[in-house]
Amino acid sequence: MSRGLRVAVVGATGAVGTEMVRQLEISPLPVAEFRPLASARSAGSQVQFRGQAYKVRELVPEALDGLDLAFFSAGGEVSRTFVPEAVRRGVLVIDNSSAFRLEDGVPLVVPEVNFSAAREHRGLIANPNCSTIQMVVALKPIRDRFGLKRITVATYQAVSGAGYRALQSLYRELEAALRGEEIAPEVLPVASQPVKYPIALNVIPQIDVFVEEAYTREEMKMVLETQKIFADSHIEVGATCVRVPVGIGHSEVVYVETEEELPSLEEIRAILRGGEGIVVLDDPAGAVYPTPRHVSGRREVFVGRIRKDLFRPNGLHLFVVADNLVKGAAGNAVQIAERLYAEGLLPQA
Ligand SMILES: NC(=O)c1ccc[n+]([C@@H]2O[C@H](COP(=O)([O-])OP(=O)(O)OC[C@H]3O[C@@H](n4cnc5c(N)ncnc54)[C@H](OP(=O)(O)O)[C@@H]3O)[C@@H](O)[C@H]2O)c1
Repeated sequence: MSRGLRVAVVGATGAVGTEMVRQLEISPLPVAEFRPLASARSAGSQVQFRGQAYKVRELVPEALDGLDLAFFSAGGEVSRTFVPEAVRRGVLVIDNSSAFRLEDGVPLVVPEVNFSAAREHRGLIANPNCSTIQMVVALKPIRDRFGLKRITVATYQAVSGAGYRALQSLYRELEAALRGEEIAPEVLPVASQPVKYPIALNVIPQIDVFVEEAYTREEMKMVLETQKIFADSHIEVGATCVRVPVGIGHSEVVYVETEEELPSLEEIRAILRGGEGIVVLDDPAGAVYPTPRHVSGRREVFVGRIRKDLFRPNGLHLFVVADNLVKGAAGNAVQIAERLYAEGLLPQA
């Protein structure tokens, strides 16, 4: 019997979840049943989907009964508890948290880069970290043509990457700053830790907690997830992740060293233009390059400021920008589902 998909969004009231609902609304996926789930705090509130109001239900194991597909974006703890419950019920989970990303047997998928891994799923596909996704999309065509030895990246990450509370605190802090008042930081760099720094009119060189060798967890995600997605544990990655007072849109300064010598700048631009999911905006004479404001709501990754290194024939500099809630999270997750559906790997309507 033909029918549409029965789909849940877990964390439907959050920053990523809200975008997930929007991405599903604009997706060609045939959604027959839509189920927004969150914590008891927002159970009973309403979410609009394709012109209809849906009541948010509390996430309990039974709320996952009778689904085909569940998008999780409610944090690692929630995923660790409830993803196995969903998988046990035969639901395909696409998980935005970092809980299972590095586990063997869990594909970590960016459709433009390694969609084939998704076909091997055993009920769970992990969506990579936002800053990793946009970087690997931009680097895929360079890696395919010239090989990649080393990536050195500095990020300029938007506050929405830390969730709704952080985004609201940015606006409050900016208003206080404009009134000339003292800023009382509440959320960043890490909500659960006592040390706080203002983000209004500031930058914070810490995203997530410090984990090993003085690197933060966000920086280590960029190292380990890049190696897993490219299926190459020899790629060297050095990351410095920085929060900036931007609402939406992560930017990255990326320097790579390729295995092979690079061709002319024009050829490199053409190769990047031909890369899947990439928009090249790069014309120094016309001051053309991407900024976070350009990219809001878009699924593509934007690349500009393309330069060959002045000293190394295999060195390349790029500026890479994407909407962290769309391509960095919800858009990537929905794209995975769209491709699985297109290949007949989800129940067909
Ligand atoms: N923001 C990004 O750019 C980004 C990118 C990639 C991945 N992610 C990941 O996506 C996840 C969500 O991030 P976010 O930025 O959207 O956070 P957020 O704005 O704080 O939203 C969190 C969501 O999770 C729900 N939730 C919290 N505790 C829950 C529980 N016990 N049971 C059910 N639902 C619960 C919240 O519902 P209530 O309304 O009931 O509190 C809310 O819907 C995180 O794992 C994050 O690492 C975020």
